[in-house]
Amino acid sequence: MPLSRNDFPPGFLFGTATSAYQVEGHGLGGAGQTHWDSFAATPGNVSRAENGARACDHLNRYQEDLDLVADAGFDLYRFSTSWARVLPDGTGTPNPAGLDFYDRLVDGMLARGLKPALTLYHWELPAALADLGGWANRDTAHHFADFAALMARRLGDRVWSWATINEPWCAAWLSHFEGHHAPGLRDIRATARAMHHIGLAHGLGLAGLRAGGADNAGIVLNFEPAFPAEDTLTARAAANRYDAVFNRFFLGAVTRGTYPDLVLEGLGPHLPDRWQDDLPGIAAPLDWLGVNYYTVKHLTEAPGPWPNWRTVPGPGPKTDMGWDIAPGALTDLLCRLHDKTSGTLPLYVTENGMAAPDGIANAHVQDEDRIAYIAAHLRAARAAIAKGVPLKGFVIWSLLDNFEWAFGYSKRFGLVHVDFETLARKPKASYAAVQAILKGRAS
Ligand code: FCB
Repeated sequence: MPLSRNDFPPGFLFGTATSAYQVEGHGLGGAGQTHWDSFAATPGNVSRAENGARACDHLNRYQEDLDLVADAGFDLYRFSTSWARVLPDGTGTPNPAGLDFYDRLVDGMLARGLKPALTLYHWELPAALADLGGWANRDTAHHFADFAALMARRLGDRVWSWATINEPWCAAWLSHFEGHHAPGLRDIRATARAMHHIGLAHGLGLAGLRAGGADNAGIVLNFEPAFPAEDTLTARAAANRYDAVFNRFFLGAVTRGTYPDLVLEGLGPHLPDRWQDDLPGIAAPLDWLGVNYYTVKHLTEAPGPWPNWRTVPGPGPKTDMGWDIAPGALTDLLCRLHDKTSGTLPLYVTENGMAAPDGIANAHVQDEDRIAYIAAHLRAARAAIAKGVPLKGFVIWSLLDNFEWAFGYSKRFGLVHVDFETLARKPKASYAAVQAILKGRAS
């Protein structure tokens, strides 16, 4: 049975998302260097040695891109602001062209009846701050709060929702422990500090936003429900540790001001002195919580020191990222989050979508697998609402094929195909399918 808006409560919001470094073209418009530029320039870090210097040239093509968002029938556009585009050195004198761009972008959304959903930090730390230790340095959290206040003063009268940080797990763990994202470290002390300081930046950032006149502020966390790969005590313990690091660390910090004991076992000795004193500020009240959901993980124990887990491929179908497709787990996750939060905290799915090879044939991308993925996850979201979860919106990643971090341009998540030679945009079949859901035509 085809889905329609009527399957969701009145006022439920649909959106699509991008992020600054992935689409804007970071080499353009006077932006400062970021740690993603240096990470990408280091051989071996990014597939085909690609980077975000030109990306989708959204900086110059944003009007066309906003038309695509509006024509699909979306209610909101989730985008992010590049800290180094606004403050090339991370602090100090702003780049007027950077601030003007975000002004025009927000005004472009409002002119089309779209709600601007702004994320302050989607991973491109100014290189000048990376030079000073980046997220391992506590000062970065204070600089972030200044950036937040600056953006709030400039855009607070027009932005609909504010997120401080996108996916702190990626910005901290994936980047400092696993080394897969900038700054590419594999260092437990830097990880512990980054985990803590990113949470601190969120808390100080919320205060900065509110002082600057912004409201409707939250954070976007990513979740991967964790399952034991086999029915053994050790696999169950490994899944539990993974769950603590991935799913419970930032959730507990921002909603209750606590860190899980299972994480402190490993990171505790490496946290900064008197970290406990920061927790009340990290847990400042949220107006909403963003939930990014793509996949689940199956874990077993691995030899070696903490956290001694190993992921094992799941049994089911996979996306082009190799990620298990598990829509049912989204319903359970949303119910669990509702349970673990105040019970009234509004939740939004702020990212969900899939990578597919998306061959273009006769100028057409027939991405049936993406259509099925999105429909299955929308149904899973609807099932959570039916169970009483205060889910208020659903945002599809992504509007455009874009720079998929360490995978460069090789992984396509867009509803709209981008030819990275000509930068031509071409809506895929999934774009039309979503449009049919949102504009009430049968799909
Ligand atoms: C999320 C990121 C987003 C994109 C998608 C596929 O983790 O927030 O930038 O890379 O995954």
